[in-house]
Amino acid sequence: MIVYFNGKYLELNDVKVSPFDRGFQYADGVYEVMRTYKGKFFRYEDHMQRLAYSLNEIKIKFDKLNDLTVILARLVDANNQNNEEITAYIQVTRGAAFPRKHSFPPEGVPPTVFVSTSALPQNTFSIDEGIKVILEQDIRWKRCDIKSISLLPSILANQHALEQSAGEAVWVNDGSLTEGSHTNFFGVREGVLYTAPLSNLILSGVTRKVILEICDSLGIQVKESAIKENELESFDEFFITGTTTEVKPVVQINNLIISSGRPGVLTGKLYEAFIKIAYSHSL
Ligand code: PDD
Repeated sequence: MIVYFNGKYLELNDVKVSPFDRGFQYADGVYEVMRTYKGKFFRYEDHMQRLAYSLNEIKIKFDKLNDLTVILARLVDANNQNNEEITAYIQVTRGAAFPRKHSFPPEGVPPTVFVSTSALPQNTFSIDEGIKVILEQDIRWKRCDIKSISLLPSILANQHALEQSAGEAVWVNDGSLTEGSHTNFFGVREGVLYTAPLSNLILSGVTRKVILEICDSLGIQVKESAIKENELESFDEFFITGTTTEVKPVVQINNLIISSGRPGVLTGKLYEAFIKIAYSHSL
């Protein structure tokens, strides 16, 4: 597998990351995950904008965002010849500097840039099946709008979910469900879609944005207001969204079974609309 690392296209095994890289030592970096539909990256500009935002918020100077188009094309060319759908991972850290110091490295230390592409596994998911999620108290930092590579709370929560036969962990902040460990979270009550508003408590999901655009075009009412833990029983449907997750119905939250365990009708409608838009790159 060929990857991009600091200006070079290398066999994965030939990549040498410094132990003094700030990503390795401090998780001092940001990342993006994108995927293709019909071989074209979906909402590329949105992902690039979010990467630029994350970099800017943590003050990493990286002026080669525009080069990513060429880098990704070359990687896809080298790795993915079979017309398969692809996921791309882009990571930028504050670079490697010795000695280890909390303060930023001196001017001139370049960021470390890593990009990889890999084939997405064949999608075996059916919209007729929902997943269970568990609730976790949000122990993350208060800048979840930044796509930071510091993911330890999310890893622990996701693992906890797996151990309880759940597909995702959803964060609870002050009694409100904000987002999943790596997804955004939605509920439907009496035909109205609810999701947490954009703030420092959630990532501005690209899939979330598409879902809100679909609602707008279909005339579905949206309330960007977080769902409270104590009102879950009043909701008819729940689902999560994400780049690789797409739209997944949630039919159980902890021990609460939603709508007799069947995925919701509006969730199905939004899923269908999403898939149509994704494969046609429209909207
Ligand atoms: N996760 N919220 C969090 C905390 C996320 O990490 C993600 C994405 C999302 C959904 O965003 P989007 O629709 O743009 O993928 C929401 C990526 C895919 C990951 O960590 O692999």
